[in-house]
Amino acid sequence: MEKPVYILGIESSCDDTSASVICNAKILSNVVANQEIHSKYGGVVPELASRAHQQNIVPVVQQAIEQAGISKKDLSAIAFTRGPGLMGSLLVGTSFAKSLALGLQIPLIDVNHMQAHILAHFIEDPESKTPPFPFICLTISGGHTQIVKVKNHFEMEILGETIDDAVGEAFDKSAKILGLPYPGGPLIDKYAKLGNPKAFKFTKPKVGDLDFSFSGLKTGILYFIQKQVKTNPNFIEENLNDICASIQYTIIEILMEKLKNAVKKTGIKHIAIAGGVSANSEIRNRLQLAQKHFGWTTYIPKFEYTTDNAAMIAISGYLKFLNNNYSNVSISAQARLKVTE
Ligand code: KG4
Ligand code: ZN
Repeated sequence: MEKPVYILGIESSCDDTSASVICNAKILSNVVANQEIHSKYGGVVPELASRAHQQNIVPVVQQAIEQAGISKKDLSAIAFTRGPGLMGSLLVGTSFAKSLALGLQIPLIDVNHMQAHILAHFIEDPESKTPPFPFICLTISGGHTQIVKVKNHFEMEILGETIDDAVGEAFDKSAKILGLPYPGGPLIDKYAKLGNPKAFKFTKPKVGDLDFSFSGLKTGILYFIQKQVKTNPNFIEENLNDICASIQYTIIEILMEKLKNAVKKTGIKHIAIAGGVSANSEIRNRLQLAQKHFGWTTYIPKFEYTTDNAAMIAISGYLKFLNNNYSNVSISAQARLKVTE
């Protein structure tokens, strides 16, 4: 029998420090340290994020290795997020990964964070199935909103993307308007469960077939709330569930409409979702229903692989390792990196 491949994945692109150990395509550990500090500022403060990564990275990596039940010497390679993300945050993971790979004299593998969100679908898990190529992936996170045609593990084509805000931003900024803390996406999801999605109507943007725009929606929500609060100062508290349900409904209608356009245009009916917003319970429900209603086969990532995590970096590293696709130690972090790079 062939020797198993153990890869340590490290993720530090934004405000989560995460480390994961994978054995071939199976995850052995996936440790995530969230940074609470940003909540009171209403968004991620880059300098604070970078400092928190520096504090967290050693214990998070140690824990991931311990939980996996292996020792550092068993590792076959180190995979890390090269970008896209916040430069100060990326630098912490990049330099840590480089030093560890050098110290252990094992290969270093750079991973594109946006590809990794998609490649999380290739983690071997009894609860989820793996999409066949080509498939369409709706990548929805705090920084990106894209419809990607995935031709193979590392060949991807952007079919459409946002021309302004990302969908995660639309959730977070709407939540901020309602006085909710950052990140507001999960809170909107929570309150929406108790509300009426048709209570309030928001205008959907008009953009190209497969492109997105969320900044107008955000402004529409802001004006609506300001107007209502003028006549009833308690409007938000009295209607929070209905407002959240209506915002979420509008956003998900937009996403579903674009996916339908993508299926029409490409003829591909294997549809996956990825990224932090794919944790949203309603988009998950709607995608399940689409199997029945539109005959799609849908791929919904396990909850723990939706928001930023190192398991997705570890699986990407493993897939690159199989192709001997290693990085040079002189490689540098990249704040801007397309899913196609
Ligand atoms: O992928 P991710 O963890 O980080 C980026 O790469 O951006 O995505 C974070 C985004 C945030 O905007 C957060 O509010 C959103 O994902 N999010 C959600 C939910 N969980 C996380 N949005 C809506 N509903 C959720 N349940
Ligand atoms: Zn992400």
